[in-house]
Amino acid sequence: MVETEKIIQVNGLNVFFGKNHVIKNVSFFCNKGEILGMMGISGAGKTTIIRVLTCQIPHYQGEVKCFGFEPRKNPNKIVSQIGYVPQLELLNLYYEFSAMKNVEIFASMYGISKEDAKNRVQRYFEMLELPKDVWESKVKFLSGGEKKRVSIAIGLINDPQILFLDEPTTGVDASRRFDILNYLKKLNIETNTTMIIVTHDLETANICNRVVLLRQGQVVDFDTPQNLVAKLPSQGRIARIRAEIDADLIWKIADMAEIVHILRIGKEEIELYIEDIETNLQKIISKLFEMGVKVSSLTRDIASFRRYFQIRMQEIATKEKQKIIRVFD
Ligand SMILES: Nc1ncnc2c1ncn2[C@@H]1O[C@H](COP(=O)(O)OP(=O)(O)OP(=O)(O)O)[C@@H](O)[C@H]1O
Ligand SMILES: [Mg+2]
Repeated sequence: MVETEKIIQVNGLNVFFGKNHVIKNVSFFCNKGEILGMMGISGAGKTTIIRVLTCQIPHYQGEVKCFGFEPRKNPNKIVSQIGYVPQLELLNLYYEFSAMKNVEIFASMYGISKEDAKNRVQRYFEMLELPKDVWESKVKFLSGGEKKRVSIAIGLINDPQILFLDEPTTGVDASRRFDILNYLKKLNIETNTTMIIVTHDLETANICNRVVLLRQGQVVDFDTPQNLVAKLPSQGRIARIRAEIDADLIWKIADMAEIVHILRIGKEEIELYIEDIETNLQKIISKLFEMGVKVSSLTRDIASFRRYFQIRMQEIATKEKQKIIRVFD
């Protein structure tokens, strides 16, 4: 068996900005060739952790290893082997220069010639569907999504072993978001590039081997998306019901002891998270009929990672199990 290599290891990481303790005892790892998703609401500390790993914050405490090297001690050994795509607000592009000129500048930092850089980047621009006329436009005239794609292409220019992407799909429209995620997965499979993806976009979990969930500088969960979903009642097996349901009825349904969570989705749909769904679903359906609920459809499904995240974050915020949860999507 091939031994898995922990290409990134973080043990007991703490970061202070002045007196502000923003990263609190964070531990996780990433195996070589895997995609790790880093998720959590704004201010959770995601960007700070990425900046520690990419050697931009040397004043951290704890043990951090990239390729076995400490970022604060051996930045030179790390920087040449990684690519970093900052979040939109922190993009470090030269706005007065064209997209292509930017590529040349960043490539020269890795000792890559102009010609080489142009040849390499064409492939990335095409794969990221960056329109040709944009290649020679000044960056300051590009849209958010176009800038983001230029930045991703630059992050790939040195064939990095680890690619750090801070919110790669922010500012990108829905259909292209999906394309970018597919492209990153393809790249990961074809080139075995390890990726750390910071994101608010919970669909990204679909391409991640493991995810680390953060809240207020602390790790809430670190596991595979599948294992996390399986922590839900009945290992994440749910019943989805379409029916005319008002607020009163929701409270009555919530009174049923077998139901752990009810997610209200839109006006006419609920998802039921039930203890031992195989034995209890039939009983619940009978009770719904007795209550006069007009069920127009009932389907069984596995909960998505998005739902796990929503339930978990609500629970932590309120420090108790939430039975009725309203989601807006
Ligand atoms: N250079 C800095 N100086 C002082 N405080 C900082 C600095 N960088 C980040 N912080 C603080 O650290 C906390 C975590 O910020 P960070 O940018 O890591 O969060 P994030 O999870 O990436 O949020 P977002 O999703 O909004 O990008 C915030 O409270 C932020 O204000
Ligand atoms: Mg951030």
